[in-house]
Amino acid sequence: MHRKICHIIFIVIMLSVFQSCKEETKYRIGVSQCSNDDWRTKMNEEIQREIMFHPEATVEIRSADDSNEKQIADIRYFADNGFDIIIAAPNEADAITPVIEEVYDAGIPVIVFDRNINGDSYTAYQGVDNVGIGKSAADYARHLLPDGGNVIEIHGLAGSTPAVGRHEGFAKEAELKGIDIIASAYGNWNYEDAAIKVDSLLNIYEDVDLIYAHNDRMAIAASDVARKHGKDIRIIGIDAAPEIGIKAVADSVIDATFLYPTEGYRLIRTALNILSGRPYEREKILPLSSAVDLSNADILLLQNESLEEETSKIKYLKSQVDDYWNRHSAQTSLFYAMIIILLLLFGVLFLVLRAFWQRKKHQNVLMSQNKILEEQ
Ligand code: FRU
Repeated sequence: MHRKICHIIFIVIMLSVFQSCKEETKYRIGVSQCSNDDWRTKMNEEIQREIMFHPEATVEIRSADDSNEKQIADIRYFADNGFDIIIAAPNEADAITPVIEEVYDAGIPVIVFDRNINGDSYTAYQGVDNVGIGKSAADYARHLLPDGGNVIEIHGLAGSTPAVGRHEGFAKEAELKGIDIIASAYGNWNYEDAAIKVDSLLNIYEDVDLIYAHNDRMAIAASDVARKHGKDIRIIGIDAAPEIGIKAVADSVIDATFLYPTEGYRLIRTALNILSGRPYEREKILPLSSAVDLSNADILLLQNESLEEETSKIKYLKSQVDDYWNRHSAQTSLFYAMIIILLLLFGVLFLVLRAFWQRKKHQNVLMSQNKILEEQ
């Protein structure tokens, strides 16, 4: 009987343990961003939005703030802390390739996105055809300068792969279309560096018709500096993140920008496909879209506003659902605790009663034995 009670209590405890384990997270995803800016903020929001739909996974995003050393440390942190998969946008290919190879060879799946490494030591890659974007930018430059003209090109960071592609595509197409790249400099993807470079180039070159910058932050810097120089120069950027690039086009700060898709949600889906053994595309090159200029910037901004509105509604709903589950799991734990306490109480009561009955039975036996002895 004793044993039976123990069995029941054991089963109830196992059930409650199982109940709490069921809600535990299975997969940990580490995202290593090389930088922290408007484009990556948009992407990180997409990642966070997508993870809301996958309660079996959590994500931690780290930014290397443009430092190779910090990014190497971030990737090692994910590997050393048992993350199941690492998603990384390498700051500079040469500097980050060895650590990616190291974790990949150690058996941790790696997804590389946006900026690439040297070689293909990754489980999957998601990126954009940067040569194609460069080519589209050159086509647009020609549309702005039908008779050809002089262009200054402001590159991204020297060792990062999109800068190479964006230059290659532009330079090739520009040559075919009678556009001269008369000067170029590295703006390192940021406003400050680009502003300094454009300033000194405009001091040297008098006759500039257009500035092609590898991203919108640098394009806005070019526009600000050109205005300071009192020059009317056409400006083209890349990225088309709503808050910066598209707004700059709508405000006529720059003439055009090209969408550099983020698609953060896709990274999370690929990561979960890899982790759960489902099929995935090893090399995903996202499609290009046409230029964002004054003809469509306003509508894109409006669309973005309604997307933000919907996102905040989804976030609210998600917080309601989380709340509900928190309350539900607290109530479930309480329920199981009550059952355990009740069972223990019954067990104790049973033991006390049994002891009482046994004592009584024993006393009765003794009394009848006494009686027999007395009679004798
Ligand atoms: C953001 C960014 C973008 C650019 C991309 C290239 O960090 O600089 O502006 O398009 O990286 O990797």
